[in-house]
Amino acid sequence: MAIELFNDGNHRCIKFDDLTKEGEIPANQFMIVQDKRGVLLDPGGNKLFSQLSVEISMYAPPQRLEYIFLSHQDPDVGAGLNGWLLMTEAKIVISALWTRFIPNFCTSSFAENRVIAVPDEGMSLDFVGNELKLIPAHFLHSPGNFHLYDPVAKILFTGDLGASIAPPFENITSLEQFQEHIQYMSGFHARYIPHSSACRQWASIARTLDIDMIVPQHGARFSGKEPVKAFIDWIDGLTCALG
Ligand SMILES: [Fe+2]
Ligand SMILES: [Fe+2]
Repeated sequence: MAIELFNDGNHRCIKFDDLTKEGEIPANQFMIVQDKRGVLLDPGGNKLFSQLSVEISMYAPPQRLEYIFLSHQDPDVGAGLNGWLLMTEAKIVISALWTRFIPNFCTSSFAENRVIAVPDEGMSLDFVGNELKLIPAHFLHSPGNFHLYDPVAKILFTGDLGASIAPPFENITSLEQFQEHIQYMSGFHARYIPHSSACRQWASIARTLDIDMIVPQHGARFSGKEPVKAFIDWIDGLTCALG
C-alpha cells in the first residue's frame, strides 16, 4: 500500500513499502510529485520495476519523471535502472564516485547524457521551481552517499541511514517508540557504517536543516521534532565498525 508522507494539495511525497517479495531485502521506494511531474528515489531492482511503474502512474505518468535519484550504488537502490531508462526520459542522479558503475545496471547507450554526477559537497536539483537539496552523507554506509532533503515537505530521505530490520512500527512518533526501536537499527549501523566520525559529521549538517520527518530506505520512519532530534542524537553518539 502506498503511504502518503506529505500532501499540501500541490506537492506530495509517497512511500511504497510492500513491493519487495519474500527472500528479498525489504525496502521502501519513494516518489515526490508536483504538477504531474515526479522524482523517484531509490527505485530498487528489476523485480520491482513493473509493479512500481504501475504504482507511480497513479500519481504521474512515468514519462514525466524528471529525475531518478540513487542515494548510493547498491543493487537494492538502482539495479532496475534499465527499465526506467527505457520507459522515461528522466535523468539519473548519483554521486560522481559511482557514475561509471551505471552501465553495469543498464544498456550503456540508454544512460548516455542522462547521468547527473553529484559532487562530494552536494548540490541542488530544480524540481518544478523547488530546490531539492542533495546532502552529503558519505560513508553512511557508502563512500559516495547522498541524502535528499525536500524543503517543501521538510522531509529528509536518508537511504540506508536509519535502516531497521522488521520493526513493529511503520512510523516512530514518540520518544518511547524511538527507544524501543533502537534494537531494530543497531545491528546494521554497527557493521555497515565504517566509523563514527562520518556519523558526527552528518549530525552536524542534519541539525542545520528544518526537518519534520526522516525517512530511511528500509523499515520505519521518524515523524515529529522529538523523534527526529532523538534519531540525529543517536546517530551522533554511535560507535561503528572501526570505532
Ligand atoms: Fe546500501
Ligand atoms: Fe539499502
